[in-house]
Amino acid sequence: MQLQQNISLKKFNTFGIDVSANYFLQISSVDELAEYFDYKKLSSPLSPLPTCILGGGSNILFTKNYEGVILKNNLKGITIIKQDENHIYIKTAAGENWHSFVMYCVANNFAGVENLSLIPGNVGASPMQNIGAYGIEIKDVFYELEAFDIEDKKLVIFNKQDCEFGYRESVFKRKYKGRFVITSVTFKLNKNPTFNTSYGAIEQELEKMQVQQITIQAVSQAVINIRRSKLPDPAAIGNAGSFFKNPTVIASFFTKLKMHFPAIVGYELPDGNVKLAAGWLIEQCGWKGYRKNDAGCHAKQALVLVNYGNAGGDEIVELSKQIIESVYQKFNVILEREVNII
Ligand code: FAD
Ligand code: EPU
Repeated sequence: MQLQQNISLKKFNTFGIDVSANYFLQISSVDELAEYFDYKKLSSPLSPLPTCILGGGSNILFTKNYEGVILKNNLKGITIIKQDENHIYIKTAAGENWHSFVMYCVANNFAGVENLSLIPGNVGASPMQNIGAYGIEIKDVFYELEAFDIEDKKLVIFNKQDCEFGYRESVFKRKYKGRFVITSVTFKLNKNPTFNTSYGAIEQELEKMQVQQITIQAVSQAVINIRRSKLPDPAAIGNAGSFFKNPTVIASFFTKLKMHFPAIVGYELPDGNVKLAAGWLIEQCGWKGYRKNDAGCHAKQALVLVNYGNAGGDEIVELSKQIIESVYQKFNVILEREVNII
């Protein structure tokens, strides 16, 4: 076990926040994971400290030095575990890069995750908040996952129902927060694709690309092009994607909002409620392109808060509070943060 001390986390979080951790440990197998938790229990400097599981650090905002152990999940491996005429089941270790996994599926014509191209981070974190984009969520292709139970020190299988997936939600963000380390996720992908191109600008982009016949590869490329046109690349500008969730309101309240703000953007949900575009609300409050010191609101996507270089996590949090307050004052809608603040 190679426990490192006083490690800078700047390159381990896509916001690029320069904080450090007392201890840092890379984990490459389930055995090492079990060994770590056994050791931690008995070792006096470690036992009182918290542990933070880190994947790609693309949905985390550190606001101070981490007084504990950062466990960097490096479990690797992609295995086809079974298949039938229509489906293929792929078990993917938690430390695999999400986009590389999508590219593997796209290259092999395994359909289902192409709309989720170019989302940063690792496979292990994908069920945490049921990642989603362009009309697809992880739950649509999820079969089961394996997780290490920190309390009972054993591997547990969760099926789709056990995970209690919702919009950017799962049981791992709620009642099991901090209890499990996800070690692998098994996806159920299609051999015969049904394309989902109705969302956002995918069809427009496919036309622009002059695609004659829709393929998994074409849809993936269209999504990549759209994402590159509006989302900041964390390698250039620190960010964690959407900082807030899109809020849901009841239909009657949406009707009232629409009377006052005819251009308001909302999508009717199957249950009759309406999901509002938080980016629109934030833009209307004048935040889009705002910058104070190195903390800002992205000029092309108001839902994304950014670090232009040396912002502290607390500056980003402060900006998010101001945004929440002004959206509430103008629209009477409460924005909820999506990013995990630590
Ligand atoms: P981390 O940030 O490392 O961790 C996130 C949380 O999960 C933390 O609480 C961490 O402790 C926990 N965790 C991580 N791994 C494990 C594990 N193995 N077991 C238990 N807990 C774990 N998200 C979307 O849903 N849709 C998008 O379209 C999208 N676009 C993005 C675009 C950009 C430019 C960026 C920077 C982010 C975007 N995100 C998006 C957010 C982010 O990419 C996802 O939430 C991603 O799944 C986070 O993965 P990660 O490995 O970086 O997780
Ligand atoms: N909009 C504005 N101004 C802005 C941004 C958006 O008016 O500055 C309006 C536009 O009308 C636009 C609509 O909001 O048509 C929706 O915008 P967009 O398609 O960019 O998507 P989003 O709702 O802002 C969500 C997810 C993204 C995901 C995209 C595509 C959430 C919180 N965010 O963003 O996920 O990639 O849809 O499906 O649900 C993430 O979770 O980190 C993330 C990036």
